[in-house]
Amino acid sequence: MSLVDVVLDLRWERYGAELADALGRVYPDAPELPGRVRELLKRTMERRPEDLRRLDESRLLRPDWLQRPSMTGYVCYADRFAGTLAGISDHLDYLGDLGVSYLHLMPLLQPREGANDGGYAVADYRSVRSDLGTMSDLATLARDLRGRGISLVVDLVLNHVAKEHEWAERARAGEQKYRDYFMIFPDRTIPDQYEQSLPEVFPDFAPGNFTWDDQLQGWVWTTFNDYQWDVNWANPDVFCEFLDIILNLANHGVEVVRLDAIAFIWKVMGTDCQNEPPVHDISAALRAAVRIAAPAVAFKAEAIVGPRDLIAYFGQGRHYGNLSDLAYHNQVMAQLWSALASRDVTLLRCALDRFPAKPASATWATYIRCHDDIGWAVDDRDAVAVGLNGAEHRRFLSDFYSGEFPNSFAKGLVFQANPATGDRRISGSLASLAGLEKALADGDEAAIELAVRRINLLHAVVCGFGGVPLIYMGDEVAMLNDYEYGSDPSHADDNRWVHRPVMDWEQVAALAVNPSSPAARVNGWLRHVLGVRRGTPQLHASVESHCFDAGDRRVLALRREHPEGMMIQLYNLSEDEVQVPMGVLRTPFGPEARELLDGSVWDLNPPTIDLAPYAVRWFVAAE
Ligand code: GLC
Repeated sequence: MSLVDVVLDLRWERYGAELADALGRVYPDAPELPGRVRELLKRTMERRPEDLRRLDESRLLRPDWLQRPSMTGYVCYADRFAGTLAGISDHLDYLGDLGVSYLHLMPLLQPREGANDGGYAVADYRSVRSDLGTMSDLATLARDLRGRGISLVVDLVLNHVAKEHEWAERARAGEQKYRDYFMIFPDRTIPDQYEQSLPEVFPDFAPGNFTWDDQLQGWVWTTFNDYQWDVNWANPDVFCEFLDIILNLANHGVEVVRLDAIAFIWKVMGTDCQNEPPVHDISAALRAAVRIAAPAVAFKAEAIVGPRDLIAYFGQGRHYGNLSDLAYHNQVMAQLWSALASRDVTLLRCALDRFPAKPASATWATYIRCHDDIGWAVDDRDAVAVGLNGAEHRRFLSDFYSGEFPNSFAKGLVFQANPATGDRRISGSLASLAGLEKALADGDEAAIELAVRRINLLHAVVCGFGGVPLIYMGDEVAMLNDYEYGSDPSHADDNRWVHRPVMDWEQVAALAVNPSSPAARVNGWLRHVLGVRRGTPQLHASVESHCFDAGDRRVLALRREHPEGMMIQLYNLSEDEVQVPMGVLRTPFGPEARELLDGSVWDLNPPTIDLAPYAVRWFVAAE
């Protein structure tokens, strides 16, 4: 018996039942499916390069690798950061200096030509975007990154394919096998019934959820743009195709697969067609399969959904702790912006207090903005609980971050205003939303100071909350909105490109020349915080942050109860000097505590702690 067969047997013993159960629930009419999957896994394992098998073994020894405080994420577009995949290898020192250990390269597989939703309309999952390089460049880059302790993260767009993808072409050509890869309806009867309960993701430029296609002679399901055709996950062939795609990426050295728009992959009449139970069975089956053939690989769920639904992506009930390893904490993101605008953390606290606990093995991706717009994920019930009206508060936030609200510091753009729901999402870079763009334009030194402090505070929260902090390219040097996006016709109608700039390497070079510039202060602080984070065991993601009342609405207080000692974090989300009663520190720590960011031991005898505007303080026991 070969070693591969032995390992396959052992891992099948461990995960085979989970895999078969999950498949059985989704595909009861395909009893042959586990056998098909096993063949696929065997082939993958036989072809898995030696160094990746080694990585598998090392990950099996360190299952908490994504949870460690040393994990630091960086997210960029390969072309906007470095031209090509090979070009990224020239910037490994830059990434290494920043402490990056997780690099998410935005969609890099071959998309359709022209508008392609930032690469999220993939025409070929087996080749890299031709202007970026080849699959072999991808494998080389992954190896280089791995050599530096950086894990490569890649998107897997699994809800839809470009309408130019071979499956769609063949469906249009009339092949029934491929028509069955999609959801196609001869007339509006069924689409109209679904539409009654379906939301619109892009009401501005892609209203509705179905698109007529002449060649198909049918309406095809298109949740996002009309050129992104939703695939039919109820078809077991689709499952096998995507599993094979994931395994191929894994064998090219991809270590984290970002499951794009995973919430949408299962449709049920009368619902919003998100977060349906089979979504989790499918993830369970994919994950069990990947754990067998490539256990080094982790899954990251992109599910921008409400807290109860979100927590399910880590696995609840029968799947407890067995689905995605990582998921975006969009509540922390949206609620931080909300607290910053209202100078009040009450709503943020309420939302986090009510947030269900995650499995101890799971990890948040914490971020203050991403490549997408910011949606005001404010739950109406939370709003009511703190005396607000949800719709009014969301309106306030859109007004505030678009800069319309009187005295707002922010400069963002409204994305996808939906008159039917009143929804107005926001685009903008971290620095512009936090006030730097306006302050610089006004030449207002005091406002510049506050903006820098705001950016630094937000970076500190995402580094301190617990999970993998994701730094979005350019934010580490306080890049502003890029209004040039409109000059590219394929981007012009999508203002999310305002915060997807081309990397400003001149700004990077200027950091050392002008160490007191806003960019240098943002960068210096971020490096400092990340450095402190790496040496702070309390930031291991197995432990959760809990909010507590520090006696002032402007102060976010987080408590992390770690076996190696308590950590208390204080953040002043306002431009006021604030005093917090010393009891919040004296109770857990006694007469002294160590403040990690200034490195000194504090005397806790005075009655209050003074927090400067936007101050950040991280305390642990003095000893
Ligand atoms: C995800 C991506 C977003 C894209 C959508 C459709 O939400 O983050 O950029 O538009 O999926 O693929």
